[in-house]
Amino acid sequence: MTLFPTSAIMCIWTILHHLPIISSSFLRCKLFNRSIHTPGSLIKFSMSPRILFSRSVMSDDAFIDAFSRIGLTDKKTKEIIKNKKVSKSLFDIINEAPKPDSIYDDKTISLLHALAVECKGADVPNRHLVTNAIVDGRLKSNLQVSEAYKYVNSHPDANNSDMEKHSGVGVEVTEDDVRKHIGNYINENKQQIEAKRYAGVPALLGEVKKIPELKWAAPQLFKPIIDEKVLALLGPKDERDVVKKEKKKKEKAPAQKEKTEPVRSMFSEGFLGDLHKPGENPQMYPELMKEHLKFTGGKVFTRFPPEPNGYLHIGHSKAIMVNFGYAKYHGGNCYLRFDDTNPEAEEEVYFNSIRDIIDWLGFEPWKVTYSSDYFDELYELAEKLINIGKGYVCHCTAEEVKAQRGMKPDGTLGGERFACPHRDRTPEVNLAEFRKMKNGEYKSGEATLRMKQDLTSPSPQMWDLVAYRVLNAKHHRTGDKWLIYPTYDFTHCLVDSFENISHSLCTVEFRLSRESYEWLCDVLHVYRPAQREYGRLNITGTVLSKRKIAKLVNEGYVRGWDDPRLFTLEAVRRRGVPPGAILSFINTLGVTTSTTNIQAVRLDSAVRNYLDSTTPRLMMVLDPIKVELVNVNDDFKEEVEIPYKPGDAKFGSRKVSFTKTIYIDRSDYRDNVSAEYFRLAPGQSVGLMKVPFNISVVKVDKDDNGNVTKIHAKYENEEHKKPKTYIQWVPEDNLKISEVRIQNQLFLSENPLALPEGYLKDINPDSELVYKNAIIEPSFAEIKAKSPMNIPIEGSEFNIPEKGGPYTVRFQALRVGYFCMDKDSTDSDLVLNRIVTLKEDSKK
Ligand SMILES: *[C@@H]1O[C@H](CO)[C@@H](O)[C@H](O)[C@H]1NC(C)=O
Ligand SMILES: *[C@@H]1O[C@H](CO)[C@@H](O)[C@H](O)[C@H]1NC(C)=O
Ligand SMILES: *[C@@H]1O[C@H](CO)[C@@H](O)[C@H](O)[C@H]1NC(C)=O
Ligand SMILES: *[C@@H]1O[C@H](CO)[C@@H](O)[C@H](O)[C@H]1NC(C)=O
Ligand SMILES: *[C@@H]1O[C@H](CO)[C@@H](O)[C@H](O)[C@H]1NC(C)=O
Ligand SMILES: *[C@@H]1O[C@H](CO)[C@@H](O)[C@H](O)[C@H]1NC(C)=O
Ligand SMILES: *[C@@H]1O[C@H](CO)[C@@H](O)[C@H](O)[C@H]1NC(C)=O
Repeated sequence: MTLFPTSAIMCIWTILHHLPIISSSFLRCKLFNRSIHTPGSLIKFSMSPRILFSRSVMSDDAFIDAFSRIGLTDKKTKEIIKNKKVSKSLFDIINEAPKPDSIYDDKTISLLHALAVECKGADVPNRHLVTNAIVDGRLKSNLQVSEAYKYVNSHPDANNSDMEKHSGVGVEVTEDDVRKHIGNYINENKQQIEAKRYAGVPALLGEVKKIPELKWAAPQLFKPIIDEKVLALLGPKDERDVVKKEKKKKEKAPAQKEKTEPVRSMFSEGFLGDLHKPGENPQMYPELMKEHLKFTGGKVFTRFPPEPNGYLHIGHSKAIMVNFGYAKYHGGNCYLRFDDTNPEAEEEVYFNSIRDIIDWLGFEPWKVTYSSDYFDELYELAEKLINIGKGYVCHCTAEEVKAQRGMKPDGTLGGERFACPHRDRTPEVNLAEFRKMKNGEYKSGEATLRMKQDLTSPSPQMWDLVAYRVLNAKHHRTGDKWLIYPTYDFTHCLVDSFENISHSLCTVEFRLSRESYEWLCDVLHVYRPAQREYGRLNITGTVLSKRKIAKLVNEGYVRGWDDPRLFTLEAVRRRGVPPGAILSFINTLGVTTSTTNIQAVRLDSAVRNYLDSTTPRLMMVLDPIKVELVNVNDDFKEEVEIPYKPGDAKFGSRKVSFTKTIYIDRSDYRDNVSAEYFRLAPGQSVGLMKVPFNISVVKVDKDDNGNVTKIHAKYENEEHKKPKTYIQWVPEDNLKISEVRIQNQLFLSENPLALPEGYLKDINPDSELVYKNAIIEPSFAEIKAKSPMNIPIEGSEFNIPEKGGPYTVRFQALRVGYFCMDKDSTDSDLVLNRIVTLKEDSKK
């Protein structure tokens, strides 16, 4: 196509202008079209309003023609021709393209324009290499064009293959690559990102663009992936992302604040200290908040919502303490709510165990409720969801639903998402189908009720979650009334709402659920409680998952779900760990939004400290040797008074009979003296705890194996030198112990699950050593009778009185460890568990 001389254009314009049938709006939209039908003939032309009214028509004319010819819009052309240098370059570029009269798509046009902007009117030799690469699609981004330009501009001898190399032609960076590199970057910089939260996200975009591997990635991939990863890391925005400024102001008035500050605790600082006050959580419908506050009177309402399908473990003790403790701290109420929406997995024993453990930890539910209490209300809201067009019945298989949610064949999310074919049925059809579900016309798996959420959201929790499923199972409380059961995602937020929860506190795995939680409350127009997520407590060096513990139990590796080597709360209790020790420990750890990974030995050390100030001391020997004093009469007897806890009068004291025969531990005698050995040996006397004088070896009896059976000793009651060391002893009138179980860590490594051979191969062969000949001084009976002693720790907020149970009979066996009575004990057979060692085990 050739250019029209101005006179010709003016002439055509005149014709058009005078055609009454061509309205001005027609002109406006068709002006840049290359073909305009006029009566009689097809005239090709192009022009802009500027030609019509501007005097500088001549100078822009050629540009305008060329630009509109390749497909540039009116508006854009107008913009470009304001810059003469860029216009000139673009004009040259168009003309040096292989087919100068092609129409290009928007992307190509924009890249050609980008090249023109780089050139700014300058003559650039070999620029056609770049132009060609844009036109045939090898250069795909502004960055590539810019790099290609830099190369040709600085290399007069530029050639095509070098230009391609410099501009990353053919370098494929897939979405998965981008995801991976951004994921790594975010992991490596997790702490800064968590500290800055959403305020740091714009800068993050700039940072990830600098990752060398992502240099040639399509830039539009970055933002959605960053959004998705940041959401997974930080959870949805909350008060920390909006009220920052206000908060800082408040902090500036410290003077009076310090005076009224209560004792520092996990409830007054950190995650829990930062939580909103009741009534401050935002609502879509503020009138609902008024109702809510009228009912709660502005009190804190929390809930602990376990599923009654397993035993609680140590991690739950934090959840219990966070929920019950936060409410208690603020004078509010905490529900114990059994989330019993999965009748197939629920058993009576779990309900009882959970209640019992909460009681043991010293908390009292305000009310005990069940999600199933609300099945009628939930059902009504499900129908409402359908009626407002936000719920639909889906008949897809699990596989199909996964595909719709963008699950790739390798099981990861991130593929293309698409709507369920049943998504757009009418509310009437959906309601009818849902009632069919309810009436048992569908079998399990044939129909589900799904929420109609937002498939374009980065959060998987918004991709049309299931709200109800068909389940032909008898429910322990509602019997066979229901053939459909609501899911966690549907139930949890709504029951929180029904129960007027002010703080729905859960662990970070539920972070993404917050969006669907709020979405559902809002679309159903019910009070929206605030879900907030804290980091959970994870004890390392053990396994906590139900399935894995079940295997240990079923295959006989442990004595049961409450084996003291496990970390179910029943096990921890049986081992003798006091509830106050657990609570104090969690309090010291504080609550943040990150998972707290704690080695079991750290918990042990907290338990040891707690026991140190709350238990009496007794003398026990695990492997006794009889000692007979040769230089005293048969009826020799000295009553030795020994305080139960030296330096602590409130424990009192007892008398122990020191007579002609006593017992010491086998490990306290050796045939030979060596440099580091200070206990009993021939030629080396030793002190006995609280006994005035030393004993020394006179003669040793041995059996055929060379084992010592009896030591004949001298009571050195004439001399008065201070012994180097004292050992414990047990009098002749002692108590025999059927079994002393010395429990050690069940696993050898800190991360048994990481073992390629499986965690069962990591089991410590010495995880339980049993002593069957142990003896203890008779005062044990007194301690047992006095238990639970419930000795408070001064100044502690966590003195939790226990009501009874063998595990409350706790004592320190001098030089041996802390012990408690095991539930396997009977009136005649005493069984003990070691709670913890006396000192941190140096082997670990
Ligand atoms: C230009 O005109 C052709 C033929 O009349 C038409 O198909 C095309 O859509 C028009 N383009 C624009 C941008 O108006
Ligand atoms: C392109 O130029 C580079 C450096 O000037 C040279 O090494 C390369 O061989 C050239 N490639 C071709 C295909 O001419
Ligand atoms: C929750 O508060 C509402 C008032 O907003 C009240 O009607 C309702 O009984 C309360 N729910 C429970 C379970 O106490
Ligand atoms: C909990 O600890 C185990 C190691 O025992 C580890 O494999 C796991 O990743 C930890 N969990 C979290 C959420 O950090
Ligand atoms: C103790 O020492 C004696 C001599 O020094 C030696 O004969 C004996 O074997 C040693 N006994 C042990 C148990 O080491
Ligand atoms: C006695 O000696 C034998 C053989 O040395 C040994 O196996 C056993 O454990 C010893 N018994 C005691 C009570 O130390
Ligand atoms: C007690 O025995 C130690 C050796 O353990 C010795 O050093 C000390 O002198 C003895 N004391 C008495 C009073 O005999």
